[in-house]
Amino acid sequence: MLPALTMVATLVAMALAASTMTASITEADRIYVSSENIASEESMRVLYERWYALHRRDADPNDKEKRFAIFNAEARAVYKLNKDGARVKHHLNLFADMTQDEYAEGFANCSPLEIQPRDEIKLNLHQPSQYYPNNLPHSVDWRTVDGVLTGVKKQGRCGSCWAIAATGAMESIHFLKNNKRTNLSVQELVDCSTENRGCDGGWAEKAFQYVINKHGIHSSEQYPYVGNGSRCTTPSGSRVMSIGRFVYVRRHNEKQLMDAVSHWPVVVPFFGTNSTVFMRYSGGIFRGPCNDTQRHQFLLVGYGTMPSDDANDPGVKYWVVQNTWGESWGERGYMLVERGHETDGGVCGISSRHAVYPAHPK
Ligand SMILES: *[C@@H]1O[C@H](CO)[C@@H](O)[C@H](O)[C@H]1NC(C)=O
Ligand SMILES: *[C@@H]1O[C@H](CO)[C@@H](O)[C@H](O)[C@H]1NC(C)=O
Ligand SMILES: *[C@@H]1O[C@H](CO)[C@@H](O)[C@H](O)[C@H]1NC(C)=O
Ligand SMILES: *[C@@H]1O[C@H](CO)[C@@H](O)[C@H](O)[C@H]1NC(C)=O
Repeated sequence: MLPALTMVATLVAMALAASTMTASITEADRIYVSSENIASEESMRVLYERWYALHRRDADPNDKEKRFAIFNAEARAVYKLNKDGARVKHHLNLFADMTQDEYAEGFANCSPLEIQPRDEIKLNLHQPSQYYPNNLPHSVDWRTVDGVLTGVKKQGRCGSCWAIAATGAMESIHFLKNNKRTNLSVQELVDCSTENRGCDGGWAEKAFQYVINKHGIHSSEQYPYVGNGSRCTTPSGSRVMSIGRFVYVRRHNEKQLMDAVSHWPVVVPFFGTNSTVFMRYSGGIFRGPCNDTQRHQFLLVGYGTMPSDDANDPGVKYWVVQNTWGESWGERGYMLVERGHETDGGVCGISSRHAVYPAHPK
């Protein structure tokens, strides 16, 4: 017998199969590069000022000339990519005036590799629903169900992707189970869940364990995000929600992952974020390359298949993930990743470790 929540979520997910993928996702805050922009240094400076006002309000003004040189090179590279007919149109996102090393150190590494505990996994494995494996929805996209996702967060120069992924997953089940929209405190996890390493990285499952041990977590209003590791404090007011346990989804098994995400968003790993293709990702289906040691964790929020013009072509299967770098990165903060390659652990290792989600929301 399935719990009522599972039934409801599955029905919602099935209903989604019919809706259009990105209907609710609109173009916003995107800065593109035209031939006029790159025509002269003066026009490039005008473009930089526009970009700066959006992304660097807190920057050090003495640093600006050096930053402009990096931006200049990046804008020209992005212009060339678009001109050469890239599959997607690239724009200038939040990384446009950073060096590769600054990007890699500040953003690309926030979930160190750790072997997941075997015994714990055995006891807490996802139990597939009655739709598994042959009647799974054709597509699932939690972005299109109002209230389930609280919005794309921005980690800043703090390796807190694991905490944002964990709060995102808890926010989703809090809404699905209790019908409440609340942003949970990422900063509380960064500061207080000592099994993790704050802004130097961590693991969503240890964040879930912290919430279980503390019988709950505060809201982001009670304990706001500052984006650096600060001293753990206990805000006034009671914790806004809790969870009873967390559940692992078998690795190297796409259908189980599809089954799990048809019920609620799930935290997945991602390997190889230190690359210009990932840094510049602006849309379309990401296929890598991803061969490096930098690691990330984020929320899997759906899957689907991009149809092809050719009737004999089955199309390209993809996952939908929510990143933690704000809305100027990717498709308004989200990314499509090619689905498949399950025996190799998926593109960039997305299914190479057990995915994890919180359960029994209170
Ligand atoms: C990121 O990639 C660049 C270019 O490949 C490399 O030089 C740098 O060492 C990498 N940084 C990290 C932290 O992996
Ligand atoms: C939660 O945070 C997002 C992104 O920061 C914001 O857009 C949204 O309004 C917040 N939602 C609530 C219910 O506070
Ligand atoms: C952390 O960020 C807050 C808010 O921006 C700032 O007041 C504080 O000085 C920062 N702490 C550290 C250790 O950088
Ligand atoms: C990554 O690159 C190294 C060196 O080029 C290579 O030895 C290794 O096999 C590659 N790993 C994967 C997973 O492609």
